[in-house]
This record gives sequence, structure tokens and C-alpha cells, in this order.
Amino acid sequence: MSFPATFEIRPVQPADRHAVRRVDDTAFGGERVPDLVDALVAAGDVVASLVAEVAGEVVGHVQLSRCWVDARERLVEVVSLSPLATEPAHQRLGIGSALVAAAVETARELGEPAVFLEGDPAFYGSRGFLPAEPLGFGRPSQRIPEPAFQVALLDEGLPRGRFVYCQTFWTQDCVGLRDPRLARVEEALAAVSSASG
Ligand SMILES: CC(C)(COP(=O)(O)OP(=O)(O)OC[C@H]1O[C@@H](n2cnc3c(N)ncnc32)[C@H](O)[C@@H]1OP(=O)(O)O)[C@@H](O)C(=O)NCCC(=O)NCCS
Repeated sequence: MSFPATFEIRPVQPADRHAVRRVDDTAFGGERVPDLVDALVAAGDVVASLVAEVAGEVVGHVQLSRCWVDARERLVEVVSLSPLATEPAHQRLGIGSALVAAAVETARELGEPAVFLEGDPAFYGSRGFLPAEPLGFGRPSQRIPEPAFQVALLDEGLPRGRFVYCQTFWTQDCVGLRDPRLARVEEALAAVSSASG
């Protein structure tokens, strides 16, 4: 896949491991997300992983991992999008948006019925994602603020149920937010809701 301007998106290669760690580390500010990515790779949970390159240097990363919807009839395979990262020096050039579009397109090509994520609806809402709970999907944790739980529904017929992360997200403690950040986000959401209502 290639995009206008100066970057290119391609599937990750084993040789990219350190570059991907660096991008995820600088974007998220710490080892937690790079460690999650390595653990997902080691557990065989990764469905697709893409990098953005500028002049041969990896500057962006997006990953899709195997997860499920626990529907009444059966457990249905879906993917989660996490992480999404652009190195700070290359942000606001459209790389993050292109990585999201490429990840959703890859999921569609693989026949995945939906891409779930936790993230800011101000970013993902204009990039093909909708709030998931009003569509009938349950959050895997109450520590995910409700507006943050979103889905790009690729098959409208996907049976409804609770979204279930693979075990690695739990063992790496990467589901939802924890206090004090969770409390801060909830306070901000309450302030917006009281100002608008
Ligand atoms: C989010 C992120 C991947 C966007 O990458 P990017 O390459 O800058 O993305 P784009 O250039 O396509 O889009 C940039 C737009 O996203 C907006 N944006 C970035 N982070 C945002 C956020 N958390 N919430 C809302 N908007 C956000 C920017 O303000 C910018 O908007 P503008 O173009 O209207 O000014 C990047 O900022 C990043 O790596 N952040 C740290 C890690 C992170 O938070 N990842 C997402 C986790 S859900």
C-alpha cells in the first residue's frame, strides 16, 4: 500500500522488531506498549501488523490481534486494533490516519467482521469507527470509558455480544484505564456532559 506524500505502509518484518519497539515507546512514552506488542507476537495473537516508513525508516505502527465477540450462539472471531503509534517527530502528517485505514482494509481483506478498539472518539470517529455499545456490543471492562469503546463494523450481520480480549491483553494489564487516569477521564466526560445538558 502506498499513500501520497512521503510515506509508505507495508507489513511488518521480523527485522523491524527494534524499530517497532522504538516507535511504540516514543509515541506512548514507556515500555508498557512495546512489551504488550512483543507479548502478543510471542503468544501468536497477531493477525496483522503494519508499519509506516519514511525514507526507509519505520516511523509508525499499527497492529490487529485476535479477539472475540461472545455472542449467544457462539464465540465469533474479531480483531482489536492496538496499538496505533506515530513517532512524535512525524505526527500530524496523515500517517496515523493512513495506518488506521490500512488496518481496517486489511481486516476487510481477511474477512474479519469487525475491528474493535479503545481510543479517543475525537480521532477515531472520523476514521470509520462508531461507539460500540449502542450497536449492541458489551465492553470487556467497566474501566473502559463508554465513548472510548468503538468498532468498525465490516459485517452488519455480526452477532451481538460482549467483546472479549485475548489473554495477553489481561496478563499485560492493558485493558481499559486505571486510577488515577480513569478518574480524570471520567471527570472530564462528566464535565462535558453537564455543560451540554
Ligand atoms: C494518535 C496518533 C497515532 C495520530 O498519529 P498522526 O500520524 O499524528 O495522525 P494523523 O496525522 O493522521 O492525524 C493527526 C490528527 O489526529 C489528532 N489526534 C492525535 N491524537 C489524538 C487524540 N488522542 N485524540 C484526538 N485527536 C488526536 C491530531 O490533533 C491531528 O488532528 P489535526 O490534523 O486536525 O490537527 C499519534 O498522535 C500518536 O502516536 N499518539 C500517541 C499514541 C496514541 O495515543 N495512540 C492512539 C491510542 S488509541
